[in-house]
Amino acid sequence: MPQHPFDWIDAQHQRQLAAGLVRTLRPRPADSALVDLAGNDYLGLTRHPEVTEAAARAARRWGAGATGSRLVTGTTALHARLEESLAEFCGFEAALVFSSGYAANLAAVTALTGPPGPDGTGALLVCDEGNHASLIDGCRLARAEKAVVPHADPAAFRKAMAAHPGRALAVTDSVFSVDGDAAPLRALAEACRESGAALLVDDAHGLGVLGEGGRGALHAAGLAGADDVVATVTLSKSLGSQGGAVLGPAKVITHLVSNARTFIFDTGLAPAAAGAALEALAVLRREPERTTRVRAVADELHRRVTAAGLPAVRPDAAVVSVRAPSPEAAVRWAADCRDAGVAVGCFRPPSVPDGISRLRLTARADLSDGQVARAAETIVRTAPAC
Ligand SMILES: Cc1ncc(COP(=O)(O)O)c(C=O)c1O
Repeated sequence: MPQHPFDWIDAQHQRQLAAGLVRTLRPRPADSALVDLAGNDYLGLTRHPEVTEAAARAARRWGAGATGSRLVTGTTALHARLEESLAEFCGFEAALVFSSGYAANLAAVTALTGPPGPDGTGALLVCDEGNHASLIDGCRLARAEKAVVPHADPAAFRKAMAAHPGRALAVTDSVFSVDGDAAPLRALAEACRESGAALLVDDAHGLGVLGEGGRGALHAAGLAGADDVVATVTLSKSLGSQGGAVLGPAKVITHLVSNARTFIFDTGLAPAAAGAALEALAVLRREPERTTRVRAVADELHRRVTAAGLPAVRPDAAVVSVRAPSPEAAVRWAADCRDAGVAVGCFRPPSVPDGISRLRLTARADLSDGQVARAAETIVRTAPAC
């Protein structure tokens, strides 16, 4: 009797069950009384009436979907306006939007390394070990040499790039999604310039949170608009929508249109998502205080949980990471918080390669002081013994 071709899935499931690593989906109601510290709606814009109305308007005007790759069906005025607006806001020459931040990262990493040159010398990708999965997957897809270097360590980047004869691309998150710590962007840019390398920064957690009026981590570091720096962003966190973008010199953006497979072979960003992101940018320009508020909420969450003795990383942006003693304890802790009215994120292996499980709290600008205090009290009260 031959084996069933999916028997291996049962075996893997049993192993994951034993290790506390099985993930399950649960229904999400449209309205919930939970205080949400699990999503990434940092600025409270995903349900902002002007943002949702802009999404509806865009869908009525342009349709529910983009109908195809923009290379096939064309670029709407909406997409063009969003790209101009994003580039201008963040301080870059040009931008190109994608159907997700994930797709934008795959595009940037693969298209900015390219295939080996005629002499066979390829590019080197130097990647921080704490980078987001989408950057890691971009590195896996890229036809380049790869060096994974210790976390937030410009000297390690410098050493890897100095040892490589051809061109190089250094790749880092601006704010790391697991621990919420910031990358040393200025030192990384310096290291890149010494070797003539380019710097690619995923600013998914910086846009709307860091820099003047939320213009992002690269703006804050004085690197926005530099001719050797490229940024990626997601539209799905601070901007409350869905989609992603690459920002950089105009010639890089033009290059992506002809060479980024996740642009060429993917349906364009849905008009509703483009309309919502454009409106969210307008709200952010009008109300820059959302940026200061979200950071104050993150600081206050951190202050309260550490005052109660919980091990948490000081937030550089809006993510507060609190250590849990084991994957099982983290899952139980997150469930207890939820039962008590607070939704928190739960990170455990293999999402965290260092094997340390955490609760991940994402601050939001639209939480009241009372909600922040009650959420922190719930997290402290339900904490497992460490
Ligand atoms: C650092 C980072 N980069 C990229 C992404 C992917 O963005 P998107 O959700 O828009 O695909 C995320 C989101 O989860 C992220 O946290």
